[in-house]
This record gives sequence, C-alpha cells and structure tokens, in this order.
Amino acid sequence: MAVVPGEWTKNPPIVNLRSNGLFEQGVPYAEFKTLRDEYPLYWNEEPEGFPGFWNVTRHADVTAVSLDTDTFRSGDGINMYNPVGMPEEVLKAINSGSMITLDPPMHTAYRKVASPFFTLQAVQKLEGRIQAITTSILDEVTERGEFDFMADVAAPLPIKILCDLMGVPKSDEQQIFDWSNKAVGIEDPEFNSSIEEGTMNLMQIFAYGQQMADDRRKCPHQDLMSAMVHAKPEGDPIPQHLMDGFFLLMVIAGNETTRNSISGGMHALIENPDERQKLIDNPDLIPTGVEEILRWMSPVMHMRRTATKDTQLHGIDMAEGDKVVMWYPAANRDDRVFDDPETFNVTREPNDHIAFGIGRHRCLGARLGQLQLKIMFTELLKRFPDLELTGPVRRVRTNFINGIKTMPVRVNN
Ligand code: HEM
Repeated sequence: MAVVPGEWTKNPPIVNLRSNGLFEQGVPYAEFKTLRDEYPLYWNEEPEGFPGFWNVTRHADVTAVSLDTDTFRSGDGINMYNPVGMPEEVLKAINSGSMITLDPPMHTAYRKVASPFFTLQAVQKLEGRIQAITTSILDEVTERGEFDFMADVAAPLPIKILCDLMGVPKSDEQQIFDWSNKAVGIEDPEFNSSIEEGTMNLMQIFAYGQQMADDRRKCPHQDLMSAMVHAKPEGDPIPQHLMDGFFLLMVIAGNETTRNSISGGMHALIENPDERQKLIDNPDLIPTGVEEILRWMSPVMHMRRTATKDTQLHGIDMAEGDKVVMWYPAANRDDRVFDDPETFNVTREPNDHIAFGIGRHRCLGARLGQLQLKIMFTELLKRFPDLELTGPVRRVRTNFINGIKTMPVRVNN
C-alpha cells in the first residue's frame, strides 16, 4: 500500500542525521540499527529553508539506490554540504561541478579520462614510492616516541601520493593538507570561525587548481591535471567550472578518506588487541584486515542522490527532486548481510562491504587506497606492535567523513 508522503514526514525523529555535532560525538550505530529495522526509508526534517531528506540505511537499499542511476542522480550534489550563507556560485561548483556529481553519459566520458591513472598496472607502479614514504614517516616518529597519530602518521602518506598524482609540488603539500581540513570541517569551529572563512578557503582551493590548470595547458606534464586539461571527453576541453570541482574532489577524495582509514583502522586495532595480535602473528591476513577496517569504520559516511522522477521505496512515495542520503556505516553493519556485524573480525570472509560505494560512481581510487592501507598497516604492525593511546581521540565535526582530528599515541619499543 502506498503511503502519502505527508504522513511519512511524521515518522518519529529517531535521530537528526543533519547534525554535524552528533557525528562529532561518534557514529550513531544504535540509531542506525533502529532505522534499518524499523524505518528503512527514514524522513529527516531540516531547519527552515531546507527541504528535508530521505535516508536509506540497509545494505540492499544503498546498493539499489546507487545502481539505479536513472531514478537517482548524482547531479545536484552528493552530500549535505550546503551551509547556510554560502554563495550560490560556490555551492554550484561543489554540487554540480565535478566527475562525482555528473550523470551518464557525461560522467562516463569524464571518468574515462581519469581512469588510466587508477588501473591495476598504474597503481602497482606506485608501490615502491608508497613503501618509501611509509618507511620515512615511521622512521621519523620512532625517534620521537610520542606523537599525534593523525597528523604525523596517517595524514602525510595520502597527501604525498595525491600530490604526486596531481602534479602538486612538495612545497605545497602542507597547504593542501590545511585546505582539505578546512573544507571537510566547514562547520567545525576549530577549522573555520565563520562561513565566510570556509567559503574563502574553497575559493583558494579553486584558484590554486585554476593556476595549475593554466600551467598545464601551456606546459603539459605526466600528471592527472595535465591529462584532464588536455582531454576532450565530449569533443571540447573540460570547462573551467568542472575543473574547479575536479580539483576539490581530488583534494578531499584522495586524501581525507585514506587518512581516516589509517587513523580509524589503528584505533580499531588498539581497541581490539586480540584482532591486532592475529595480524602481527600472521601478516598474510593484512588484506582481509584492511577490508574489515573499511567495513568497520566506513571512512565516507554518506553520499546523496536526487530522485529524477516520482518513485517508491518500501511502499513509500518519494517525489521527483527529493533528496535521498545513503549511509555507508549503517549499510556496512547490516545483519541481513554480515554475520555478527558489531564484531571487528580481521579474518572476516566474505566481506561485501560497500565503503567505496557501488555502481558507476564506485571509488576510482579504491585500489590506490587499499594499497596504501596494506603497506602502512604491514609496517605499523611490524614496527610498533604495542602502539598505545595516551589521550582521548578527538573527532571532526562533520557527518560526511568519519574523521579523526587528533589521536595521541606512544611507541613502547
Ligand atoms: C579508503 C579510501 C577511500 C574510500 C573509503 C573512498 C570512498 C569513496 C566513495 C564512497 C565514493 C563515492 C561513490 C558514489 O558516489 O557512489 C568515492 C568516489 C571517488 N573516489 Fe574514493 N575513496 C577512497 C580513496 C580514494 C582515493 C585514494 C582517490 C584518488 C586519489 C579517490 C578518488 C575518488 C574519485 C575520483 C571518486 C569519484 C568517482 C566517480 O564519481 O566516478 N578515492 N570514493
């Protein structure tokens, strides 16, 4: 029986998924379980001036919405990044200005341009470089003994690999790190004191990308930025507003995700010493351990879609233009798919997690992220088997990335 949408806007407010502050305290796993079991299509009201949005939390529903790109489009924004007071043109660049916010056939053409940088062969070529960076990061912290795991171990590897890939010089790595923190923490007062400051930060990222694009137009290198500016995916060069969004996408997607998988993964291993010991005793388990880390902490917490037409899910009507948010941490702990989902199990097989998304937009950098995680955890567990926390873990105030802000640790050997 179809339900009148108005009725359903009255589902009880189990949890406010729009609240960045909620996620700063921790992922609401208990509430996600209630939604999966009782409100698989859950309506979340929003403050005055915003339309509200639907939420899917079951693995099968996140999969179905991701795969049905005719009914649920990525154009019009893939997250809830719409802070009050942000100028229209900046919102436009974020919400409809990059590969991740395109739909077929345009998406297919653009993705083809970047894909050669992420093939198995291309990623394997980076193995030596990833290994060398990892070694130098761990050498440096060994000397100090106590350090912030996020800033000193988890952050530098993905930043350096991303900058190599894009063609950003080493001297600007710190700048990219700061920009990316401020972009993800747009509503975190520790990163941005006002929406104007957050907007200014985004404008600086766009300006930097534009400068790079101009340079590469005149003088191509072997990097991804050069490939993008010289490509003609639909017969013409990629317009600048799409290059802006692409640069921002790479700064965040190639960096925050892997960084937080390293921090969140290490945190999970510290909290589950028996599982950590299994990986120390048998490093061949590290690949399955990495997949379990991704399932366990889902570094990207949500992606959003927009209904292209009136449709239904679980017998409930959704109208054309409605927003639908897919929650990966919820889908990845769905007991309809995973045995004992609330247990962190580094030997879990099969492990059909969807931390990289699924379908046409499935993460282009998945292989690269996985390789960095495998190398980093192999070295970490070999060199620091008893790494321990020395203080509380602080989280970023955002509902988008499962972000750790600081994680103080000590090495005991
Ligand atoms: C553990 C690390 C990572 C995780 C968990 C992750 C997760 C995701 C997710 C959930 C999506 C969106 C899927 C969707 O909209 O349906 C995505 C897309 C994307 N990711 Fe990643 N990502 C990771 C690492 C990376 C890296 C290292 C790069 C590049 C250097 C990258 C580049 C991209 C790009 C370009 C897209 C857009 C693909 C498209 O729209 O076709 N990601 N990622």
